[in-house]
Amino acid sequence: MSGVAEIERQHHELVGMLNKLNDAAKHDKPLEMVEHLIDEVIAYTSFHFAAEEHIMEQSGYAEIEAHKEKHRQLLHDALKFKEKLRYIGEHEFVDWFNHWPFAKIHAHIVYADRQVEDHIAQHGLNN
Ligand SMILES: [Fe+2]
Ligand SMILES: [Fe+2]
Repeated sequence: MSGVAEIERQHHELVGMLNKLNDAAKHDKPLEMVEHLIDEVIAYTSFHFAAEEHIMEQSGYAEIEAHKEKHRQLLHDALKFKEKLRYIGEHEFVDWFNHWPFAKIHAHIVYADRQVEDHIAQHGLNN
């Protein structure tokens, strides 16, 4: 599978997981279930970021360091949110979306990663 096709496959997978998580949170599913989905999203996001960074290296993407920093920040925010989740009560549940770091991961896929995919499509991979 080519670099771009593989990234797109992973994005598709991740968007599916994010949608599932959003639905669970919106429909007030049990906290354990939401936490489980968050764990899955964080694990897959971490796997995907590493794969994408490898592909960026292979294609000589100039903005790789800035992009890696965005990845680091997104994961940091998601992990911090997960930590906080243990301490917030049910009544704060509805306020989640004001602090929802997973929407940022989704936006990252749609905007920042689009530039990476365009670069790879134009320049290919070195090996
Ligand atoms: Fe990505
Ligand atoms: Fe990315």
